[in-house]
Amino acid sequence: MVGAVAVGIAMVGAATVGVAMPGAAGMAIATRESWFSGSLPPRCWPPVWQSHRLPAMTEPSSETLARVEVLADLEPLVQRLMATHEAKRVLWFPSELLAPPPDTDPDAYVSELRERARGISTPARVALALNLLTEEGLPHFHRLLAVYLGGDTFWSKWTNLWTAEEDRHGAVLHDYARDSGVLDNPVLERMQFEYLRAGFEPEWDRDPYRVFVYTTLQERATQVSHANTGKLAGEHEPLIGTVLNNVAREEARHYIFYRSVFKEVIRRDPDRALVSAAELMPSIDMPGVNMPHFREMADVIRRAGIYGPRDYLKIVEEQIRYWAIDKVEGLNDIGRKAQETIMAVPKRLERVADAMETRSRAKSFIFDVAFAREFRMS
Ligand SMILES: [Fe+2]
Ligand SMILES: [Fe+2]
Repeated sequence: MVGAVAVGIAMVGAATVGVAMPGAAGMAIATRESWFSGSLPPRCWPPVWQSHRLPAMTEPSSETLARVEVLADLEPLVQRLMATHEAKRVLWFPSELLAPPPDTDPDAYVSELRERARGISTPARVALALNLLTEEGLPHFHRLLAVYLGGDTFWSKWTNLWTAEEDRHGAVLHDYARDSGVLDNPVLERMQFEYLRAGFEPEWDRDPYRVFVYTTLQERATQVSHANTGKLAGEHEPLIGTVLNNVAREEARHYIFYRSVFKEVIRRDPDRALVSAAELMPSIDMPGVNMPHFREMADVIRRAGIYGPRDYLKIVEEQIRYWAIDKVEGLNDIGRKAQETIMAVPKRLERVADAMETRSRAKSFIFDVAFAREFRMS
């Protein structure tokens, strides 16, 4: 999933969640009772909505329940999107992408790979390390999806498929790093250990809609980061270009899934959907923020033109267009306020990007994971 998202911007005053709102007018949404009924026993309530997560309450808030009901009603859409997703997917595996061509001596193949990889620049190696480690945060993200969408609901079919696909991303990059010798692997493994041990708890306020806003933005960000890293590193070593191209294409398909789900959420429950989007879009919690040396690594990838605030700006603008935020009608006061907040985000992001570029000065970096080779970037 998620790539390096180096955009740390203070939240603007988005409308707060927790105010009672009318249900989605005219929509036949599942009721709380229907979620309990049929084949879904009460224990199927995703843990995030269970009272033990809400010490001051005996049951989830009405706002959370309303969102749960909308998501419980999306099974046909999810089935359709998953069928389309799987029909278009090319199910590659790490050992296939990295295997020597037939009739090639495997040892000679790896030696030649190592020789080519020597030409990969240090900033490109840092980007590769950051992308790899972010992919290896998968346990954090699987947990978040399982907690917010439920382990025993139909959503788990998607969560499990998505996890199985994502698991190959970290694996192929690890295998590439080992075969090519492009990174200091013992350092890399320790960083991964620290990253997983540190945990990742974005402030989603028990709001399951934010899952889809976040994953939409992050899958797109990851796609950009992998694709651009592949271009930079692939100049000297084409195999990493091919690997990252395959990973990026898969992120693009995940992005399509998540943004399509959220588009339907907006259609069914526009006020709450816009409130959730307004909470996240100005600034997303960086997935690798608890990773050792994250900020310096993110600074390198910005300076290398791989991913930075201007890319995040483009991604936000793209979602505003795709979700047609400005055209959502029939909103209540809170929904309208959220709509205004979202529409103001691009200008704010532009100012942030301008300020960051103006302030930026040439700087030297050194990372153990890239063999402690000092390099300077403008
Ligand atoms: Fe992904
Ligand atoms: Fe991924």
